[in-house]
Amino acid sequence: MKKPRGSIVVRRAHRTDVPQWLSMRRALWPDCPLRDHRKEIAGILADARYQPVWVAEDADGELAGFLEASVRNYADGAGRENVGYLEGCYVRPRLRKRGIGHELVKAAERWAAQRGFRHMGSDTWIGNKGSHCAHLAMGYREAGRDIHYVKRLKPGREP
Ligand SMILES: CC(C)(COP(=O)(O)OP(=O)(O)OC[C@H]1O[C@@H](n2cnc3c(N)ncnc32)[C@H](O)[C@@H]1OP(=O)(O)O)[C@@H](O)C(=O)NCCC(=O)NCCS
Repeated sequence: MKKPRGSIVVRRAHRTDVPQWLSMRRALWPDCPLRDHRKEIAGILADARYQPVWVAEDADGELAGFLEASVRNYADGAGRENVGYLEGCYVRPRLRKRGIGHELVKAAERWAAQRGFRHMGSDTWIGNKGSHCAHLAMGYREAGRDIHYVKRLKPGREP
């Protein structure tokens, strides 16, 4: 893995990061309405013990990426125990494949290990090959696959 450029620092997110964090969040989850992003960010900032966030910042204060983690009580492959969980990780496209994503993940893993968790869980979309390869390269193994279904219902009255 290439080392991130020397000027990149990974640190916990602050309230002042919200505008750049929000713009990266919108790029990662474009289907999420803006008001939901704002609501989720407010909830995350108020719950730093269970929902920590890291950002990768360059020397000019520009954010190159972010990672949101959480505590879950289950993860495929780890069973019924509290685990650290990678909820979302994003690196700006022009800065990818320089080790920044891995530095963010390592920060989250250190946090989880310090909390006494034995595993870090994660997931990605089935077609997201880049993320899948990155997970494998960072030491994660595939623990299962989900398929989601939906069916449109005919309008009806309650029986
Ligand atoms: C996934 C993502 C966060 C990786 O960030 P990154 O900064 O490029 O990752 P790194 O440079 O630290 O790479 C870590 C390892 O994964 C590998 N890797 C990263 N992207 C890869 C890709 N697209 N294809 C194959 N391998 C990849 C790297 O080669 C490296 O492996 P190495 O240590 O053996 O060299 C970034 O590609 C991204 O933001 N993607 C879009 C959002 C996304 O899919 N997020 C994940 C799901 S929430």
